[in-house]
Amino acid sequence: MTSNPLSRKSETASTSGVTPAKRLVIDDVSFSYETRDGLVEALAKIALTIEPGEFICCVGPSGCGKTTLLHLIAGFLTPTTGTMTLGATPVRQPGPDRGVVFQQPTLYPWMTVADNVAFGPRMRHLPKEEQRRRVDHYLQLVGLQAFAQRAPYELSGGMQQRVAIARVLANDPTFLLMDEPFGALDALTRERLQEELLKIWRATRSAVFFITHSAEEAVFLATRVIVMSARPGRILLDRKVGFSRRVGMKPREIRADQEFIAVREEIIERIYSSEETP
Ligand SMILES: Nc1ncnc2c1ncn2[C@@H]1O[C@H](COP(=O)(O)OP(=O)(O)OP(=O)(O)O)[C@@H](O)[C@H]1O
Ligand SMILES: [Mg+2]
Repeated sequence: MTSNPLSRKSETASTSGVTPAKRLVIDDVSFSYETRDGLVEALAKIALTIEPGEFICCVGPSGCGKTTLLHLIAGFLTPTTGTMTLGATPVRQPGPDRGVVFQQPTLYPWMTVADNVAFGPRMRHLPKEEQRRRVDHYLQLVGLQAFAQRAPYELSGGMQQRVAIARVLANDPTFLLMDEPFGALDALTRERLQEELLKIWRATRSAVFFITHSAEEAVFLATRVIVMSARPGRILLDRKVGFSRRVGMKPREIRADQEFIAVREEIIERIYSSEETP
């Protein structure tokens, strides 16, 4: 995408009631699910500070608590112990400042694709023209402008997920929470959306918390990669990476870069070692 109207986007963001970016502080947070068979300890003593504008990629073995951590940040769950604050405010409930893209697309089945994307801007009473601009822009970004008037059930699962991404982006969230959003997409679409996501992130300076099973995706996107242990999830590695800030380099060159490959292997090694049983 070369003609990205992101400069216009930031102008409109300042007039559309978007909450300014704030630091997220996760302070010794543990979380246990209550089940019929007793407590399931999902997370143990997570301490993590996310500054505005950071791009955190979270990796770790299946069932280690990544989604649980994202749901805590989103305000869908509250910590069993510990505290979580966004700016000066404790995180207790979901808010428009935190946009969530789920593992599975969650669209309103009775609305067209365009109306799904327009939903947030419409709820915030943005001018009709701005609503239309955002719908066009974000549907184009995810390659679905030709499907604007279709119903979600007429789309494949991957296409529905792209609509779900467009819908969240249309809200201009200051904190983007993404749970394996590209996991269901083919490799080419996935790479394209990774690059577009980076452009959006650079322009909006929103913080991103992104869960993935792909070390390559994590290293390509992140400014920090968090590797979690098997359940109960703890942070095993918190590593700064810089490839997503290399704006001059082509994505293909970055992925083939020796340093990139070395960091990717380091992360893979750490994930494998986190799965080893003592
Ligand atoms: N609603 C729930 N009730 C009870 N236990 C749950 C619930 N949701 C998750 N768990 C358990 O908590 C642990 C962490 O789950 P979570 O979904 O956070 O893991 P994850 O790292 O996102 O896994 P995956 O990579 O497979 O998506 C798992 O052992 C899971 O079985
Ligand atoms: Mg998960």
